[in-house]
Amino acid sequence: MTIATIATAPIDGQKPGTSGLRKKCRVFMGEHYLENFVQAMFDGIGGVAGKTLVVGGDGRYHNDVATQTILAMAAANGAARCIVGQNALLSTPAASNLIRTMKTDGGVILSASHNPGGIDEDFGIKFNMPNGGPAPESVTDAIFERTKTLEAYHIWQGDPVDLSTLGVSTLGEMQVNIIDPVEAYVDLMKSLFDFPAIAEMIKGGLRIRFDAMCAITGPYATRILEDTLGAPAGTVVHGTPLPDFGGMHPDPNPTWAHELMDEMMGADAPGFGCASDGDGDRNMIVGPNCYVSPSDSLAVIAANAHLAPGYSDGLKGVARSMPTSAAVDRVAEALGIDCYETPTGWKFFGNLMDDGRVSLCGEESFGTGSDHVREKDGVWAVLMWLNIMAATGKSVPELMGDHWARFGRNYYSRHDFEAIATDKADALMAELRGKLAGLSGRVEGPLTVAHADDYAYLDPVDGSTSAQQGVRVVFEGGARFVVRLSGTGTSGATLRLYLETLETGKLDLEPQAALRNVITAAHAIIGIEAHTGRTAPDVIT
Ligand code: G1P
Ligand code: ZN
Repeated sequence: MTIATIATAPIDGQKPGTSGLRKKCRVFMGEHYLENFVQAMFDGIGGVAGKTLVVGGDGRYHNDVATQTILAMAAANGAARCIVGQNALLSTPAASNLIRTMKTDGGVILSASHNPGGIDEDFGIKFNMPNGGPAPESVTDAIFERTKTLEAYHIWQGDPVDLSTLGVSTLGEMQVNIIDPVEAYVDLMKSLFDFPAIAEMIKGGLRIRFDAMCAITGPYATRILEDTLGAPAGTVVHGTPLPDFGGMHPDPNPTWAHELMDEMMGADAPGFGCASDGDGDRNMIVGPNCYVSPSDSLAVIAANAHLAPGYSDGLKGVARSMPTSAAVDRVAEALGIDCYETPTGWKFFGNLMDDGRVSLCGEESFGTGSDHVREKDGVWAVLMWLNIMAATGKSVPELMGDHWARFGRNYYSRHDFEAIATDKADALMAELRGKLAGLSGRVEGPLTVAHADDYAYLDPVDGSTSAQQGVRVVFEGGARFVVRLSGTGTSGATLRLYLETLETGKLDLEPQAALRNVITAAHAIIGIEAHTGRTAPDVIT
């Protein structure tokens, strides 16, 4: 058994974002590919000699094999210790928690989030910092630069680690701790939420359906809902993480979690429905015949978080991404707390949380979380809702009805136009940006444009700026639409159109009907059909 130094050539690495490097699984399986990236990652963070790292992933195809490679390379690069979830499993929020509470030097998370898994699907790897959050751009840039010049990597050559057995072993000089991936996370949740009250509510007859979509939250939800809170077996469906997610597209939205939606909209719907994504950071909340939009979920949580023991002192402040609806702004105003608007992507929340400015954050894209970790957290959002229901004695439809009656209703929808040719999408955005200045006063049906701009962000903590984060067109009276191109797509460009209008009177309209005038105006102003030939979106959330 020895440390080998193996020659490698630079890889086609692409610049990793805060979600790390995502590629087709077969690319990662190519000769030296993963190894090159891992060595570049270790070098990019200043080496791992003497360091302790958390390692784990969402269980998708190649998760176990890649984990062995990472451990062997960490050992060869002089790491002191790796803390690994049993069978190489860790949800992204659970990994963030371990990195923080075990005071490690960071962690390696294997996931491609909500993207499908399997040998012909997606794989991904990212590095999280000692604060538990994704590496900032300065670090991911350093990693990327290193992938281009790397000539060799170091790897321990010996027997692989037994990932299935809990306990401590060694790989060369490095200690390997195989831990229960769920336990510490359950303790964290118990410290934040009123488990006895939730258990009492379940005992009283609340039926719950949690769809884990054959991904990582199965073991977490089963341990918490069924084993700890007393929900009957079968509450969690699709609860075993599978390498290909059982063929599911593990993205918790009405389109991909349609089995859950059908059940919740049916005659015998449970009292509470929820789902999480591949790596456990996204969530969807549904009541019987009552879909809760993520923007509304954030607002309801902001208004009621003080009912959960971990938040009984109230929230420091809240933050939402710019395209997320302003429903939470109205709550923040009523509570007298700060509300920050940031560009799309969880990374912008990290600075605000580290600086103690906000304790609750959310995005319209099914991401909600707090400063208990530095990632969004699907199971956390589910427990927050259950805690609110237990404390108020109200159902999901009652909570929504009360919320809208008090704050008004921000009708909201996102329309995605997928797989557009990149040049056409770029031309559309360029033309739109070019005419922003002249849009004020333009009349479209009953709507008049009040102002339009291209959103730019100044980070109040570190002073950094981010330009061109989405075009927003606001109408007199406050209705608006936002247009931006996805930064996470894999084939062509995805155009996202976010639509919003506030109603204080009519609270039970169908959202698409409530937004009809904004939709019509958006198409007229953007010229989506003229640029792309598309008249209707591929996905509506
Ligand atoms: C999407 C979501 C965004 C989220 C990101 C990562 O990014 O819109 O809110 O933070 O996935 O989960 P997009 O494809 O829009 O760039
Ligand atoms: Zn995810």
